[in-house]
Amino acid sequence: MEYNDAGVGVDVLDCVLSSAPENVVVQVRGDVALKMFFSRRFKIRVLKESKIDSALDVKLREFLCRVFPNWERVFRERRAWHDAAPVLTVLATDRDGKIAGHVAVVERTLTDQSNARRLVASIQGVSVAEEYRKTGLSVKLLDVALKKARRMGYPYAILFCREPLVKFYQRNGWQFPDDSMVMWRDREYPIHMQSNCPMYRTLGKEPFPHGPLDVHNPLPHDVSNQS
Ligand SMILES: CC(C)(COP(=O)(O)OP(=O)(O)OC[C@H]1O[C@@H](n2cnc3c(N)ncnc32)[C@H](O)[C@@H]1OP(=O)(O)O)[C@@H](O)C(=O)NCCC(=O)NCCS
Repeated sequence: MEYNDAGVGVDVLDCVLSSAPENVVVQVRGDVALKMFFSRRFKIRVLKESKIDSALDVKLREFLCRVFPNWERVFRERRAWHDAAPVLTVLATDRDGKIAGHVAVVERTLTDQSNARRLVASIQGVSVAEEYRKTGLSVKLLDVALKKARRMGYPYAILFCREPLVKFYQRNGWQFPDDSMVMWRDREYPIHMQSNCPMYRTLGKEPFPHGPLDVHNPLPHDVSNQS
């Protein structure tokens, strides 16, 4: 179904959205309609780590094990790769309180060839429960995560994805760096990433650095954007 909000009153749209079955994809155009669509179907929250108790941690890891079956060994233990804890988690739950989608932001340090270091928002675990795919929920969750990361002062967001997902991210404004972007373990060993397509988005006015880039977990003395 496709609705263009130019000719559809909010009341009519509200009625259509609330009566549409869960598995029907309703494409609506316009901020108001989109907000209404998501707020009717999902509760979307931005959670700091301190707000994630052990029960929610278990639920989130079970969800991540289901949507990333190849990464079960990681998500059985923690919610992010490479020994990091998210600085924030964007979580969507459906009307029954079940997890519908997830995006995590992890803080990393990006070092360019002039040795300048910046703390950046690394996006991880972008995932939507199978029954809610193709509803635009992933785009909404990414949007919420990037807005929050921008407000926290990160100049860029980065992610590593697998090749089949590149088009999806490009459609949503992500770009390739002009050179390599390598993830390092303990600043000593390059990590061979299965998700080997590095991508970025600028969050403010600062242009993304040129040339080869290294990505690390922040050192203790790197100033954190966490508040
Ligand atoms: C990625 C994801 C959040 C996107 O959800 P969505 O917005 O509902 O969109 P779709 O499921 O339609 O997927 C978007 C595109 O990604 C592709 N895609 C999604 N998951 C994929 C996978 N596991 N392997 C290969 N391609 C995949 C789809 O084929 C689709 O491609 P197209 O738009 O060019 O046809 C969702 O597919 C998901 O949760 N996948 C499993 C977890 C995952 O792989 N996350 C990506 C981490 S970088």
